[in-house]
Amino acid sequence: MPLSATLVRPPGAPGPTRRRFAQWSLAGGLLGSAPVRGAVESAAGAADAPADASLAKAFGQRMLFGMAITPEQLRGREAAFIAHHCSVVVAENAMKPEALAPLREGQYEFAAADALVDFARARGMQVRGHTLMWHQQMPPWLLKDGSATVSRAQLIGRVERYITDVVTHFKGRVFAWDVLNEAFVDGEAPADPGGMRLSELRTIIGPEYIEVVFAAAAKADPDALLFYNDYETQSPRKVEMISRMVRSLKAKGVKIDGIGHQAHCSAGHPSVADFERAIDAYARLGVTQHVTELDIALNDSLMENKVTSATPALLERQARRYAELVGLFLRRRAQVGALLVWGISDAHSWLNSWPMQRFEAPLLFDAQLRPKPAFHAVLEAAQRAA
Ligand code: G3I
Repeated sequence: MPLSATLVRPPGAPGPTRRRFAQWSLAGGLLGSAPVRGAVESAAGAADAPADASLAKAFGQRMLFGMAITPEQLRGREAAFIAHHCSVVVAENAMKPEALAPLREGQYEFAAADALVDFARARGMQVRGHTLMWHQQMPPWLLKDGSATVSRAQLIGRVERYITDVVTHFKGRVFAWDVLNEAFVDGEAPADPGGMRLSELRTIIGPEYIEVVFAAAAKADPDALLFYNDYETQSPRKVEMISRMVRSLKAKGVKIDGIGHQAHCSAGHPSVADFERAIDAYARLGVTQHVTELDIALNDSLMENKVTSATPALLERQARRYAELVGLFLRRRAQVGALLVWGISDAHSWLNSWPMQRFEAPLLFDAQLRPKPAFHAVLEAAQRAA
């Protein structure tokens, strides 16, 4: 997910609250081996729900709150943690095409995804489906016809069949789908004159592939909310391109219900003002919005590798960024229906290995599931909005 990370210093956020850091350090954040605060080992050895206030409860009916999770987290302490803090979850990778249909057309591996979806729904959590079509993590068979490249008609048929089969399989259990992910670029990858990424889907089928994928999803599950999901959705150029696409789909009577803001942020980018303008611009299109993959790197920009440890100052700065961004999303809760962070803890962040192997700690809980100052900042923002 290449990004041209511009460094925009956000306007000064409210000053640090030493209390947040004190809470985190008392929780063992500085002591390294202290047990997870409040995760009481029950007689059976499995941890009970954490004692930290539930984020899902703090957000309450105002906004779904959740995390990207993996099938490996559906047991023990992590399972209890997820059930405690989330009212919605999304599979980080388990519901992507390469995971659901790795070998050949029409042959599906649903077990891991079903376990994740059923785990969530058994505990009253909603599930976002991520993602039906993307230029990454697609199975090799999709674009090949023997040793040749698939024809346009073949590819349309395969895409429609995949989407129909998958959306039908999860129908009634997945309330929102990222139908299409990252189809527009703003200079960081080859694109057509309209800014549409020159992926194989775009190149082989043509720009109308976007109508094809949304129409197939709507036909398979008319009740699911259908999202276009992307990064840098707050940039003016992306707002222009995505808005044009939404208007075009709506003019053709193709169902699209929402825009997903991945919101992969850093200490210095993007500004709250840009995000606010974008949320208001998309709201004028008559679509809802989810913040789908929020994380806030300690580095000044996503592309940097200058941070070597989570110092108190960096954690406080990160907490302030979470406070100002989540504060915006909550102020716009009439437009933003869900907020998910991209991982349960710093032990599970893609930013530790993208765009290079590095130290990063972009989430609300540290690698031992201990709450960081960022957790307290988000909790306080949710409680203030009550
Ligand atoms: O499944 C294989 C495993 O068999 C193999 O042993 C292992 C060794 O490399 O790789 C595993 O695949 C990895 C996959 O995640 C599943 O864990 C890939 O290497 C790895 O590249 C892939 O990374 C994911 C990335 O999307 C792929 O682009 C990240 O976990 C995931 O967080 C990230 O999520 C994306 C969203 O879907 C869309 N928005 C951007 C976001 C960050 O890129």
